[in-house]
Amino acid sequence: MTDSGSKLKIWKFLKIILSSLLITVLLLFTVASIRTLSLDVNVGLQLAHWEKTNNISLVIDHHQREELLANFKEAIRIPTVSFSETEINTTALLEFDRFLRKAFPTVFSSSLVHHELVGNYSHLFRVQGSQPDLVPYLLLAHIDVVPATESDGWEAPPFSAKEMDGFIYGRGTIDDKGSVMGILQALEYLLIKGYAPRRGFYIGLGHDEEVSGLNGAKNIVRILKQNGVQLAFVLDEGLAVIDGIISGLDGPAALIGVSEKGSATVKLTVSMLPGHASMPPRETSIGILAAAVKRLLERQENTNAFVRTTTAVTMFNAGVKVNVIPSLAEAHVNLRIHSAQSLQEVLDLIHATVADQRVKIELVEGFDPLPVSSADEKSFGYQIIKKTVLDMFPTVTVAPGICVGNTDSRHFKDLTSNIYRFAPAWFKPGDPQRFHGINERISKKNYEEFVVFFFNLIQNCDIQKLPEPHSSVHEL
Ligand SMILES: *[C@@H]1O[C@H](CO)[C@@H](O)[C@H](O)[C@H]1NC(C)=O
Ligand SMILES: *[C@@H]1O[C@H](CO)[C@@H](O)[C@H](O)[C@H]1NC(C)=O
Ligand SMILES: *[C@@H]1O[C@H](CO)[C@@H](O)[C@H](O)[C@H]1NC(C)=O
Ligand SMILES: [Zn+2]
Repeated sequence: MTDSGSKLKIWKFLKIILSSLLITVLLLFTVASIRTLSLDVNVGLQLAHWEKTNNISLVIDHHQREELLANFKEAIRIPTVSFSETEINTTALLEFDRFLRKAFPTVFSSSLVHHELVGNYSHLFRVQGSQPDLVPYLLLAHIDVVPATESDGWEAPPFSAKEMDGFIYGRGTIDDKGSVMGILQALEYLLIKGYAPRRGFYIGLGHDEEVSGLNGAKNIVRILKQNGVQLAFVLDEGLAVIDGIISGLDGPAALIGVSEKGSATVKLTVSMLPGHASMPPRETSIGILAAAVKRLLERQENTNAFVRTTTAVTMFNAGVKVNVIPSLAEAHVNLRIHSAQSLQEVLDLIHATVADQRVKIELVEGFDPLPVSSADEKSFGYQIIKKTVLDMFPTVTVAPGICVGNTDSRHFKDLTSNIYRFAPAWFKPGDPQRFHGINERISKKNYEEFVVFFFNLIQNCDIQKLPEPHSSVHEL
């Protein structure tokens, strides 16, 4: 946040942070007619004859359980925090690099795996397949986490990985070290068991996802482009298995993100002549700005188009001495743009809604919603993810959804039109608030499921092509 107008010895008078509104919606999603989907979701291809690929099954014994949990806890204890685009904990990122090499010696020494550091702290692995004609895919996750301090109300210190009631607590347990560690642990076990994939694949681990991915994911994409790589699909974090969160939906649902909302950060500024509080002018900069912001947040007829695009005021600053009416007032508004709208449409709407020339409107940053990846019976990535989920959790409904939060996968849209956002985390009521909030945690059982999920997914990708859809679907 900027401290503009410092010439006038302006100090922060008003600082309203309404980011909680944003956090609450972060993990909410729109599920297109989930009820109608639920009838046929779990049949179709699941009845069809799948080429058998997963020859190696993972039965986690006592020793492995101890080992994979110890690795996971160690990952949580390294505070790889991204504070801002310019302030990341590079000490922790270097420590994390050393830790990965120690925890997954087979991954780092296998002749099938090529590893490189990207942007100094991100990682790109290429696992060579025996059949070069099979288009590779990419598993994506990120190493960095958002800040956390115990005084915010954590039941355990956020970088302690403390175990309580079968859960491991800590920043990053869900977002996103479950995937980082789950993917590499699965590959480590596969390689130890002598697995050699038919279909080659990549693993990308970004180090600055929480603050844009400009040095991590973006450079990974640049390298893949230079090498002429096209991807069958990308699987990144995003949605999860939700249980009891959407009212009216019976039973758990695995929502696979097929798109994510766009985003816009807009700065509204009002600049008026300064004055003394003893002679208040009819309208102050704060008053004008507050009225504009109120109009934006109101659900009036002309803002109906915002209904599915969420709007939150994230900063409101006007600096003065207690007895000086501020000349300058500014607010930052963050919008998450629904897939049916574009950035430009939303900007036009803001101008039309604010409708006050005294309010200067600037786009700080923004991008369009991501294209919608297909989720039909011919969608290789979607069907592989779905099969892997159903093999593990046969009673779960699988359906496509839209992510409200943004992920590193948005940088990959030139490499594939099939981007999916899912991890097998189980979310029960109250859990979405832990995301970027306090008491982020994962159950030990659920983390183990991450490892098994990626272990099976990698092998499921070895089929040459999807089976023909089963003809009996329509008879059901
Ligand atoms: C699975 O096992 C069969 C029989 O042992 C073998 O022919 C096949 O190549 C194996 N598949 C993979 C992907 O390793
Ligand atoms: C950065 O990480 C190191 C551990 O690698 C830790 O000791 C240090 O406290 C962290 N710094 C901040 C500002 O969090
Ligand atoms: C990587 O490190 C080098 C040398 O310390 C530095 O010049 C460069 O800017 C760094 N790159 C990134 C993306 O941080
Ligand atoms: Zn994340």
